[in-house]
Amino acid sequence: MKTLIAALALTSLAAAQPATWFPPNQLVTIGVYYYPEAWPESQWDRDLTNISNLGFEYIHMAEFSWALLEPTEGHYDFSWLDRAVALAHAHHLKVVLCTPSATPPAWLSREHPEILMVRADGTRMDHGSREQADWSSPVYLHYVEDIDNRLAEHYGSNPTVIGWQLDNELSHYGAGVSYSDAAQQRFRDFLREKYGTIDRLNTDWGNSFWSQMYNSFDQIRMPNPHDLVAGANPHAMLDLHRWFASDTAGYLRFQAKVLRRHIHNQWVTTNFMMNYNLVDPALSAHDLDILTFTMYPVSGGLFEGPLGFRIGSPAAVAFTHDYLRNLGNGIEGPMELQPGQVNWAPVNPWPQPGVIHSWILRTLAAGGHIVCTYRYRQPLAGDELYHKAMVEPDGVTLAPGGKEFKEAIEDISAIRPLYKPNLQPPADYASRRTAFLISFANRWDIDNRPQTTRWDTTEHWHKYYRALKALMAPVDVITEDKDFSSYKFLIAPAYQLIDKDLVSRWETYARNGGTLVLTCRTGQMDRRGHIWESLWAEPIYNLVGAAIPRYDVLPEGRNGRVTYEGKSYEWGSWADLVEPKPGTETIATYADQFYHGAAAATRHKFGRGQVIYIGVDTLSGQLESDILHQVYSQAGVHPARLAPNFFVDWRDGFWVATNFTSEHQTIPAPPGAKILRGARSLPPGGAAIWQQ
Ligand code: GAL
Repeated sequence: MKTLIAALALTSLAAAQPATWFPPNQLVTIGVYYYPEAWPESQWDRDLTNISNLGFEYIHMAEFSWALLEPTEGHYDFSWLDRAVALAHAHHLKVVLCTPSATPPAWLSREHPEILMVRADGTRMDHGSREQADWSSPVYLHYVEDIDNRLAEHYGSNPTVIGWQLDNELSHYGAGVSYSDAAQQRFRDFLREKYGTIDRLNTDWGNSFWSQMYNSFDQIRMPNPHDLVAGANPHAMLDLHRWFASDTAGYLRFQAKVLRRHIHNQWVTTNFMMNYNLVDPALSAHDLDILTFTMYPVSGGLFEGPLGFRIGSPAAVAFTHDYLRNLGNGIEGPMELQPGQVNWAPVNPWPQPGVIHSWILRTLAAGGHIVCTYRYRQPLAGDELYHKAMVEPDGVTLAPGGKEFKEAIEDISAIRPLYKPNLQPPADYASRRTAFLISFANRWDIDNRPQTTRWDTTEHWHKYYRALKALMAPVDVITEDKDFSSYKFLIAPAYQLIDKDLVSRWETYARNGGTLVLTCRTGQMDRRGHIWESLWAEPIYNLVGAAIPRYDVLPEGRNGRVTYEGKSYEWGSWADLVEPKPGTETIATYADQFYHGAAAATRHKFGRGQVIYIGVDTLSGQLESDILHQVYSQAGVHPARLAPNFFVDWRDGFWVATNFTSEHQTIPAPPGAKILRGARSLPPGGAAIWQQ
C-alpha cells in the first residue's frame, strides 16, 4: 500500500487534479480516524506504528478539536497537532484534517449565545454536545472563518496533509432546522430574492386560502409545525427545504473558500449524512473536490431477510455511491464506514461477520476511490462509549472490524498490480447501464404531504434500485443537469414535480430510441407544487400514451392485488389507475377493488423508443423487478436474475460481488474465471473479486 504514498508525494503543487490525488491504479485508498487529543502522547507512536503496519494510508484528525486548537478566544495552540502530523509523516501516513466547526468551544457559546441554534419549540440549544451551532449566524461565521483561516495558513502547504473535511455531517441531528432570528432573516432574504414581489409569493404559496396573505416579506417567519394549528402551508414547507439546503450548501462553499485562500494541492470535502435528506450533496458538487459520506448500515433496523438486521440496507450503501459518483468529478467514497457495533441506535447489534469487509469492497465495485473508518480506538471516556473501533479497548488487540479492514486492505494491495488503464466495461454489462433520475425537491414535497402513511419515497427509489441491481445493471443516479441521451434506459421514479421542459426532454429521449420508465406519482404537479389546471397529471399523458386520472391508497392492514403475467402481487401504499389509449399495451392489471381489471402498468411505443409506466407501488417491489426484467430482456441486453441485494459490478477489469443477502450466493463467474479474492460460493456478508 505504500506505493500510493510515493505517488501522492510526487504530485506537484500546480497539478492539483483528482488523478494525482487519487491515481487510478491505486483503486481505493483506505484510512482511519485517530483522535490524538484523546490519548496520552506517549501512546501516539505505538498507535501510528500499528495503523501504518495494518496498511492504512492516511489518518483523519482534528474534526472536533476547536477547544484544544483555540483554548481561549484568540489564543491558539496547534503544537499538539503539529506533533501528531509530524509523527504521521514519520510513519508514512498522510493526513486528512477537518475544520472544527461542528463543535464550537464553551467560551464562544457563553460569550455569544446567539451562535447556538434554536429548536422549533423555541429552545436555544446549549454547549455540551455537537452540531449545536447555527450557521445562519453572522457571528458564528466570523469565528469559523477565523479558525479555518488559521488552520489553512498553518497546514495549507504541509505535504503530509492531503485534504480537508469541512464540519461533520452538517445537520442538527434530531433537533431539526434552526429557527433563530438569524435563520429567519436568511429565509426571508431567500424568498425576497426568489419571488421579487410579495404578490408573487402570495400567489405561489396559494395564500388567498385561509387568509394566509402577507403584506410584506418582513411578516414572514419560517413555517414551524410546532406553532401552527392545522399544519404548514405545503409551498412554504417546500421553500423551507429549498432554503435550508441552499443555505447549508452556501455554508460549505464559504468554508471551502476560506481554506482555499491558503491551501495548495489539498482537496476539500465534507461528509454528507445520507440518511439525513435535508442536505443535498448535488448543491455542493462543484464546490467540493471530492464527495464523501458517512455510512452506518447496521443500527437496529430490520431490513430484508433474517440477517437484514446484521447487514443493514445494501441499497442505501450502493445507491449513495452511484449518486455521489455522478455529481462531481467522480471521486467519492465513505469518509466514515461503520467499524462494528455503534452506540447511538436504539438497538446496536453486531454486524454480520464479513459484511464490513464487503462494504469496503462495495466502494471498489462502485468505482469509489476513498474509504475511511470511524475510528481506530474505542473511546474509554466521553461520548460514544460502546462504539467499536479497529482495536479493542486495550488499544492494541485487533477487533473484529479491524480484522475485516485489514483483509480489505490486503485485497486492494493484492489487486493493484493487476490494474490496467483505459479498459472498457464488458459489452453486455455496459449495455444495461441505466440512468436513475432523482431530485431531492420531489422527495421533500412528497414527504411533506404523502397522502398516506404507508408511502416512503426513499424506499420507493430503493425498490427500483434493487430491481436494477438484480438485473446486474450498472446504475448512474443522476440529476436533471445531466444529458440523458447516452443511456439506453432512463428511470424516473415518483417524479412528482415537473415542468414542460422536462416532459419535452423525456419525449425527445424516448423518440430517439430510449426506454423511459416512469412510476406512480409522476408529473402530478409543477415545480412550485401546484396541481396542474388540467386532468390529473395530464402533462405526461402524451408520453405515457394513457390517462392517469385517479389513484388509490389503502389503510394499514388492507392490501390490494395486481396481476402480471399470471402472477399476483400485493400493494398497499399507492395505485395509479391507468387508462391506456389505443395502441398502448396494458402489462399489469388490478385484480381486486371496485376498479378490478383496470391497468396498473402500461407500455407505449414512442418514436423509436418506448415509455413504460408502472403506476403501482407493491409491498415487496417484486412486480417492479419482474417488469424491468422483461423490459430489459426484450431490449436484448441479457439481464441477470441475481437475488435482490446480491450486487455484482465491474470496475477497471475487476468483477466484484458483494453478498448482502441472508443466504449463500454463487458468483456469476464463467468456469475459466480467475478468482482473485473470496470464493465462488459466498456466505451472507461475503465478497469476491475475479477477472474473466
Ligand atoms: C457519525 C458521526 C461521527 C461519530 C459516528 C459514530 O454519524 O459523524 O462523528 O459520531 O457517527 O458512529
